[in-house]
Amino acid sequence: MKKIILTGDRPTGRLHIGHYVGSLKKRVELQNSGNYDEIYIEIADAQALTDNADNPEKIRQNVIEIVLDYLACGIDPSKTNIFVQSAVPELTELTFYYLNLVTVSRLERNPTVKDEIKLRGFQTSIPAGFLIYPVSQAADITAFKATTVPVGEDQLPMIEQTKEIVKSFNNTYGNTLVKPEALLPENETCSRLPGLDGNAKMSKSLGNCIYLSDSKEVIEKKIMSMFTDPTHLKISDPGHTENNPVFTYLDAFCKDEHFTKYLPEYKNLDELKDHYRKGGLGDMKIKRFLNDVMQDTIGPIREKRNYWEKHIPEVYQIIKEGTNKARQKAIQTTNEVKAAMGINYFEDENWIKEQQEKFNQE
Ligand code: TRP
Repeated sequence: MKKIILTGDRPTGRLHIGHYVGSLKKRVELQNSGNYDEIYIEIADAQALTDNADNPEKIRQNVIEIVLDYLACGIDPSKTNIFVQSAVPELTELTFYYLNLVTVSRLERNPTVKDEIKLRGFQTSIPAGFLIYPVSQAADITAFKATTVPVGEDQLPMIEQTKEIVKSFNNTYGNTLVKPEALLPENETCSRLPGLDGNAKMSKSLGNCIYLSDSKEVIEKKIMSMFTDPTHLKISDPGHTENNPVFTYLDAFCKDEHFTKYLPEYKNLDELKDHYRKGGLGDMKIKRFLNDVMQDTIGPIREKRNYWEKHIPEVYQIIKEGTNKARQKAIQTTNEVKAAMGINYFEDENWIKEQQEKFNQE
């Protein structure tokens, strides 16, 4: 069986360093591993509309932004198909058939949907399109016969629901769809990077992110004003490295080479942490080091982004071609789905013959 990757993002804003360590970096490694036959990344604009119906302009403005972030991080369009969800109408068609295999109460029990309903204040009036977006996500995944779906932990309920739909479809109509597996980030630090303010999550609405597109100066300013250990008041005070986002970011980004290059008095992060815990190590010093590490990491990404920002027609061509290829695959699967259900009337010569015979016998 072919090994196929599908994953996606809602185009609701530029991507930040949490996205980078949590998923983009891994996607690039998977892409370059040579272990996969087909790779798709979906810009989930239709899904983004399920909770942004009143603001399509936000989606419209962020499609290219997100592609720029992909290309900047090393997504290579000759290996990975980047495509736009709404331009593949077969995904909507599949969703409509799959909806019959899912109950409303099952959707209401989906933990991610539940959380998001609370977060968005939808409790008393859930948009129907929002409630069913897990089914549309199942269409995204199965249309490409994806075997592997690299996602964050918050997306596990979506993969579960997809598996149930695949099982139900195959049982009801015959073996057609492929059951996907989620691929989670290996490293817990990377799967959820805290915000600059110490909040558990880096999120646009909290304004506590470092974006991949931030300038050198902005990154430096953000890092120098980061939340650290509130009990570490004087340099000589012993400090805490847990729940201290400066150290969490170092856990996620710094390598031993960074010590050789920027802080040679320490061999590695363990030594730096030991010193901080004992006392005698100031926040300014570790922030300056973190800034060096982040500039080292984001610098090359920003450079690539700047290149693509000046070549938007090429970016347009990349997603146009990616979308065309994705659509061909989705059409093929949709044809198989309709054949399995026996509703492919115009591709199935037997259907009309059977209808005639039925009346001949009467
Ligand atoms: N729900 C995902 C998110 O919010 C985006 C997404 C849409 C996706 N379709 C997908 C992820 C298919 C993986 C597979 O981040």
